[in-house]
Amino acid sequence: MDHQPLTPEQIEHFVQHGWLKIPNAIDKKYLELWMSNLWTRLGWDKDAKSTWTDEYVKMPRHREVPVEELSPKAWQAACELVGGEDKIDPIRERYHGDQMICNFGTEHWTKNDFTPQQATGWHHDNDWYRQFLDSSGNAITVIHCFTDIPPRGGGTYLCEDGLANICQTLLDHPEGFEPPLDLYSHIPNCKKFVTVEAKAGDVFLLHGLLPHTNSKNHLRYARVIANPHINMVEPFNLNRVDGAYTPCEKVILRALGRESIPEYRPIRERQAYFPRTATFKRARIDAELERMIAAAAAEGLGRDSVDSIYLKGEEAIREHERRAGYDLAHGPGGIAHTIDDTERVTAE
Ligand SMILES: [Fe+2]
Repeated sequence: MDHQPLTPEQIEHFVQHGWLKIPNAIDKKYLELWMSNLWTRLGWDKDAKSTWTDEYVKMPRHREVPVEELSPKAWQAACELVGGEDKIDPIRERYHGDQMICNFGTEHWTKNDFTPQQATGWHHDNDWYRQFLDSSGNAITVIHCFTDIPPRGGGTYLCEDGLANICQTLLDHPEGFEPPLDLYSHIPNCKKFVTVEAKAGDVFLLHGLLPHTNSKNHLRYARVIANPHINMVEPFNLNRVDGAYTPCEKVILRALGRESIPEYRPIRERQAYFPRTATFKRARIDAELERMIAAAAAEGLGRDSVDSIYLKGEEAIREHERRAGYDLAHGPGGIAHTIDDTERVTAE
């Protein structure tokens, strides 16, 4: 792995567009290992599409490693975009894992087109804290591409010019917003849409406020991504006397056409909550574990050969839950019980 810093062009791309692609960034060991039991976890036959009963599946996490181990290049890039490794939360989402988001497509979508203007579910990722303009709880939304994503292959839609309106609304509302957020009605009128296309191993880094949603997979294959985040310790600083803004801060200032925002002050406390959309993903844990244990047994292996946080004892589970915010109280938005209940905040 090379450890070249981002080029000025890469940083400028992030500031101008709100996202950056880091090619070939995921360590191949994890790419192969974490994809190797995908179909066992799903309980479907890879070669029999009649067994693919859902178009879209969000899975829980069984394995996780420190971000820099999974993807050294993406970690280094993320550190640069937020202003340095010391700015990143040492606990929250400090590990990334195999919490796969699969888009399998349907027969219908093999024969029909779809456009970003038709898409619903636009959102930026925040189902776990009170959102202010300078909130950095989700500084960067990460898209780990675990499969190739060809054109028409169900890559995430990004809306570059949808970010400004969100920033303006947050600037106008220093009282902040509780998840689930509802700041996206302007998106169908936007013009600058990008669809993620990738090779397995590529990583996309999105500014935390960049709106995105899932597209349709017209190719009827397993498109697999994971979608963790980079969380910071302190809020973004939108009033630096020396003007030395980080790339993440520059995205917000550029969107608002400002050089600094000295007047902005949140007028309520910052709050963090249990992630609103975790529950329905975690509901899959036991069934996936059962299938993994059965698959191991079929090969003459014991339960201890199955690699899952949930088989490592209470301490390991507690650590994982702390990193994921599962130890926090529910927020005023409650929890989502189904994938449909969460479209606004979690369609990828
Ligand atoms: Fe998302």
